Amino acid sequence: MRKKIAAGNWKMNTNPEDGLKLASQVVQMAQDESISDTTIIMSVPYTHIERIKKIIPPTKNILIAAQNCHQEVSGAYTGEISAPMLQYLGVDCVILGHSERREYNKETYAELKTKTRIVLKHQMTPIFCCGEKLATREESAHFDLVKEQLSSSLFEFNAIEFAQLIIAYEPVWAIGTGVTASSEEVQEMHHFIRYTIAKKYGESVAKQIPILYGGSVKPENAQTLFSCPDVDGGLIGGASLDAKGFIDIAKSF
Ligand code: 13P
Repeated sequence: MRKKIAAGNWKMNTNPEDGLKLASQVVQMAQDESISDTTIIMSVPYTHIERIKKIIPPTKNILIAAQNCHQEVSGAYTGEISAPMLQYLGVDCVILGHSERREYNKETYAELKTKTRIVLKHQMTPIFCCGEKLATREESAHFDLVKEQLSSSLFEFNAIEFAQLIIAYEPVWAIGTGVTASSEEVQEMHHFIRYTIAKKYGESVAKQIPILYGGSVKPENAQTLFSCPDVDGGLIGGASLDAKGFIDIAKSF
């Protein structure tokens, strides 16, 4: 049985005080609603990690994530943050290769491979993002691109390493646009991703990897998306900034 995951990606939103309030509400509601068989992840800005970590109960189903980290462990990289720094703060997961970072920070396949290695080495779980732009889908090149994103950055890892990953499929055209991919489009791609993993690492690894969908997930569409057989949850942007909405999504399995 794969884990069901509702992961909020707050991006560059909230100040530390409002972020703490939001996280406290999420924790409280998760407890009130007795959500225990869904893993809730909050991917918060770096400045919020330390204070939010303190209010997370030791139940293991509420986790804290960072939204990126540098590929080197230390050094002259002004403005960057390293995996050991995040590990020291008790971070559980790190989002890597989000399309916004691929686009604005020109993250390369090779960098993402090194980042994934560093995150694994520091006992955190990479949430590795992939997904195509609209033009790529219109050229019917979306499967090839997603395969390339996975294979170029991840397929040098051995099966034990790879089995620790969470994959997030986020079609760029559905992020922050209000346009959600249809459940058929999502299932088709998730199935393809699992098939691609199975070909490389075998069925048993493929079966255990959580594959999340991201792109305009809301309380209204979460149930339909999460009922797809190869969808194990969501990576949720805008809707994760409202505690009730986010918890409603987490209850949609
Ligand atoms: P939205 O849910 O706001 O579309 O963002 C998705 C996303 O980018 C999560 O990482």
